Amino acid sequence: MSKFPVLHFPHRHLLGIDGLDAADIAIILDLAETYIEQNRADDKKRALLRGRTIINLFFENSTRTRTSFELAGKRLGADVINMSVASTSVKKGETLLDTALTLNAMHLDALVVRHPDSGAVKLLAEAVNCAVINGGDGSHEHPTQALLDALTIRRRKGRLHGLTVAICGDVLHSRVARSNIALLNIMGAHVRVVAPRTLLPAQVSRLGVEVFHDMARGLADVDIIMMLRLQTERMHGSFLPSIREYFHFYGLDHNKIARARPDALVMHPGPINRGVEIDSAVADDLDRSLIREQVEMGVAVRMACLDLLLRANTPMTEH
Ligand code: NCD
Repeated sequence: MSKFPVLHFPHRHLLGIDGLDAADIAIILDLAETYIEQNRADDKKRALLRGRTIINLFFENSTRTRTSFELAGKRLGADVINMSVASTSVKKGETLLDTALTLNAMHLDALVVRHPDSGAVKLLAEAVNCAVINGGDGSHEHPTQALLDALTIRRRKGRLHGLTVAICGDVLHSRVARSNIALLNIMGAHVRVVAPRTLLPAQVSRLGVEVFHDMARGLADVDIIMMLRLQTERMHGSFLPSIREYFHFYGLDHNKIARARPDALVMHPGPINRGVEIDSAVADDLDRSLIREQVEMGVAVRMACLDLLLRANTPMTEH
């Protein structure tokens, strides 16, 4: 018998928040809590996943997500290999599947995939035998980001239920927004989106959010302000008159924060664009900004996800 207790987690892959319930999310967050201290200790390594192989397959650039998955795997004792594939050199469809099948033949235990196309990670999960974790697919989902955001909020506010969270900026192109909206709704938070009309998906209120086009109203009495980067790499055409105007109306500075609750906290998934969606003084304000804490929680959450998918007694359904 293993000296490490095995938890029950009824999922083979982590492709999105869509498909999880409140109990699944609580299992991940509770387990992640236990890894925070380990990550702060001098000896950060455990042998839980010794002998397992994880590949980070990234078709898009990444600093935080890729590094934290690598650290997470290594701290649990697994072998981790990073593969960066320039998206331009990869043809979609068959080539993606061929890559996956090639890797699959090497007896992997987990594949962490980031891809510019929404749905690509699911396609790949259907073709391989190992666990697949979505590290961000197009503007669709980025589940581990929402989970690390939830852990950060829960530690600071003691709960998710009943909080009001404003997600501000380029919601249209944001997988972070989509995963966070889903998770926060499942956990009983009130979610608002604050953005110009051009940066909101059609029928956004169907996602279970209150919609605002004006920061003063949208931030009134909120507990959490979650800022998003302008994702220009996903913009085809012109969505904004100018960056200066955008910052004036939607960039977060201390004046706009004054509308929120006095103990409101500021989050951003990174990378931040100072002076575009967030003022430097806010990003660096340690009383308000949780940006660095989010990065720290990212490692703990990814350790929990790898642990649960690789060790939990999941009923395996072969494809
Ligand atoms: C986000 C992403 O890649 O979706 N970043 C991240 O994972 N930390 C958000 C972004 O790129 O703006």
